[in-house]
Amino acid sequence: MSQSTSSRSTWSSRWAFILVTIGSAVGLGNIWKFSYLAGASEGSVGVFVVVYLACVVLIGLPLLMAEILIGRRGRSNPVAAMLNTARESGNSSWWALLGWVGIFGALMILSFYSVVSGWMVDYFWQSLVKGVQVGTPEEAKTAFETMMADPLRLSFWHTIFMILTAGVIARGVVGGIETANKIMLPLLFLILVLLTLWGAWVGDMPAALRFMFSLKTEAIKAGVVIDGMGHAFFSLSLGMGAIMAYGSYLDRETNIGHTCVWIAAAGAFIGLLCGAAIFSLTFGYGLEPAAGPGLILQTLPLAFTHMPGGRVFATLFFLLVIFAAWTSSISLLEPFVSWLTERFGIRRAWVAWGTALPVWLLGVAVCLSFNDWSEFRIFDRNLFDMLDHLATRFMMPLSGLAVAIYVGWKLGRIIVTDEIRLKQRAFSLWFNVLRFVVPVGITLVFLYELVLRDGFK
Ligand code: TRP
Repeated sequence: MSQSTSSRSTWSSRWAFILVTIGSAVGLGNIWKFSYLAGASEGSVGVFVVVYLACVVLIGLPLLMAEILIGRRGRSNPVAAMLNTARESGNSSWWALLGWVGIFGALMILSFYSVVSGWMVDYFWQSLVKGVQVGTPEEAKTAFETMMADPLRLSFWHTIFMILTAGVIARGVVGGIETANKIMLPLLFLILVLLTLWGAWVGDMPAALRFMFSLKTEAIKAGVVIDGMGHAFFSLSLGMGAIMAYGSYLDRETNIGHTCVWIAAAGAFIGLLCGAAIFSLTFGYGLEPAAGPGLILQTLPLAFTHMPGGRVFATLFFLLVIFAAWTSSISLLEPFVSWLTERFGIRRAWVAWGTALPVWLLGVAVCLSFNDWSEFRIFDRNLFDMLDHLATRFMMPLSGLAVAIYVGWKLGRIIVTDEIRLKQRAFSLWFNVLRFVVPVGITLVFLYELVLRDGFK
């Protein structure tokens, strides 16, 4: 199945690759998910944040490099890249399964990711045309719940977001993905800096930092440790073939190690910055941080209503979230689209829209799982929670484990050193962390939650 590689696109520079990968990393994960997970783990937020940061450095960074290595070496979509590298290194072609899990897992994530992004588009639109006016926490809650109870409204914005996503992918790797990131990422960063400064000005930044970094270990909640690790995976876009797909368009000269340090550092930094801005507003206006998935939509509009220039900032804030989500969602669609395009030689535009359709449909089911179908539960979770938990708590860490074993133990030193051209000491450090720390770390987190905490419920 080895495909011809001569006609493949390549990012226009090393910086373009760094940009698109940061674009993929920074998304709803950093803004929506981080704040709601941190808020929900009240009492052990510090533990969540520390586990997250430790996992970014000790597990995320090495895996980021390993995934890019596979993509670039295999020079193809995740399935074929696994197959090509497995063949080259004399391993079983069963390893391609990892590619399959990735491309389908990414679509699964995209289905609910697009729905949540739709909430953000809805709030953006409201802020733009009339301003979100909520005077009390109850009003904010009612406003959010009214949206969630309306399947048509949810589906409408979800549809818009899927169109945005597929539209970029249809335009190709350089013309679509790279261009979109080059426009949106600098703007995103600018808005974020502005909002953080302003959040520090009108909000309560010290309280936010105390909240995020207080290590109250006497109350480690069940699920906090696996959530911290899962979040490191989610926020670095790991374990689902997305980074592999992006890595496959990377030129041979770029130094994977140096590049990944930039990506991981920027991802974590922007993540913390978003958290600081959001919690600073939350506490500055005396609001509750533990609101669940609706957190930023229930607390921030209140803060926006009460502050000077609130409407402008609300509009900017939701624009920021949309940019962040958009540059990420395209990396969830790309792995599958690249596979279909390369495997069957179908035109990219057709594949992009054709793939978006079933994902959109699953997303509509997610929209219904909040209202009309909320009775339908699997393991006491609605479809939305189910998809999220399955992906973040299980699929991503387990795929990460498999990637670590594959690159650390199976691929062989010749291929690995040929791709990762680091100085001897840096190389051994990375390689040993990948071989030992990553697998042991993931296993320990699983055992801890499963056996000690029973935190998977
Ligand atoms: N990293 C993105 C975020 O934080 C989400 C994401 C994009 C993702 N691509 C991915 C998660 C691939 C897992 C796998 O919002």
